[in-house]
Amino acid sequence: MTDSANTVLITGNQGYIGAELTRYLRDRSYGVVGLDTMYYTECHGSSNAVGATKQIVKDIRDLAPNELDGVRAVVHLAGLSNDPLGDLSPALTQEINHVASVKLARFAKEREVERFIFASSCSVYGIAATDCALSETSPIRPVTEYAKSKALVERDVGAMADARFHPVFLRNATVYGPSSRLRLDLLVNNLLAWACASGKIMVMSDGTPWRPLLHISDFCQAVLAVLEAPLSKVSNQIFNVGRNEDNLRVSEVAEIVRRTVPGTTVEILSRVSSDERTYRVNFDKITGALPHFKPVHTVHGGIEQLYRDYLRLGLVKEDLDAPRFFRVRWMKHLMATGRLNKELRWTTECEPA
Ligand SMILES: NC(=O)c1ccc[n+]([C@@H]2O[C@H](COP(=O)([O-])OP(=O)(O)OC[C@H]3O[C@@H](n4cnc5c(N)ncnc54)[C@H](O)[C@@H]3O)[C@@H](O)[C@H]2O)c1
Repeated sequence: MTDSANTVLITGNQGYIGAELTRYLRDRSYGVVGLDTMYYTECHGSSNAVGATKQIVKDIRDLAPNELDGVRAVVHLAGLSNDPLGDLSPALTQEINHVASVKLARFAKEREVERFIFASSCSVYGIAATDCALSETSPIRPVTEYAKSKALVERDVGAMADARFHPVFLRNATVYGPSSRLRLDLLVNNLLAWACASGKIMVMSDGTPWRPLLHISDFCQAVLAVLEAPLSKVSNQIFNVGRNEDNLRVSEVAEIVRRTVPGTTVEILSRVSSDERTYRVNFDKITGALPHFKPVHTVHGGIEQLYRDYLRLGLVKEDLDAPRFFRVRWMKHLMATGRLNKELRWTTECEPA
């Protein structure tokens, strides 16, 4: 184990972002303790293979305080990770995403963890009342259980900040890009998968909603910048994470995908989506406060990179219909087959090794 001055506990380290963040921080000489209940590991054909220095297989609801001993910082990613998953059970969304997160922060504070970096989301802006880009001081309007849970963690963990405990809240734009734990239920990843596997880019709305986008490795860079920043710059701060240039309408993303993948067409369903979110976000604060955060990926370049990855993977139409790359479908599959109970806990005999 690397010394504790350099040890980070990443919850949710076996997920889409967590797997990449684990590798990214390990490559930069951090020790990574991973904690994850492994909901999605078998979707990717391998079990515990993301390379943490130490892996704890546990539900965050069952965490013990001593698991935080010797840790300098927590990066808290674990949770039901999008709006549809949050709608699966509003009560469990609050139990896992809000209550267990606050408990984790309390344990972290008790055990003298210095920094607690929380993966919040631009989803807290909900349905923006304006086309102007929203900053961290703009009013939030979370509309889903998922977004409400993020806002509640910001409020409750923010209240714990003091001279020794320094929470930081990263309101991430919608992430895209390659990962060893790929998700296809994220906007860019999804539209590109449709293009590659079917030749048709399906836009499930009228294409007008705004979405800020963030390349997965730029998110990793933001976490590193927060880990290495002077505390005075980050303590109890909220940062929108993304690039001003990457606020795009869904139809614009579809058009970039169309230009990237030869021979594809765009189909815009021109109906009001069940997902009502639309917001443009201003990212000046993070770039001003953290000079080491220099997001480098344009959406165009990121899509080309992801396209090459999809070609290597050989995505096919069946992948769009199967549950394994779609979080809510996979959870429903685990419940329907009795592997998870209604509390979203593994049934004993099925717990992954
Ligand atoms: N992906 C995005 O675009 C995006 C944008 C903004 C915020 N976020 C936030 O970033 C975090 C990571 O997102 P992701 O895309 O990697 O999600 P993901 O679903 O791929 O990964 C989440 C991980 O958390 C684990 N997990 C879930 N519930 C758990 C529990 N009760 N105990 C222990 N482990 C549990 C899962 O097994 C999984 O490995 C999430 O909190 C998400 O809300 C993601």
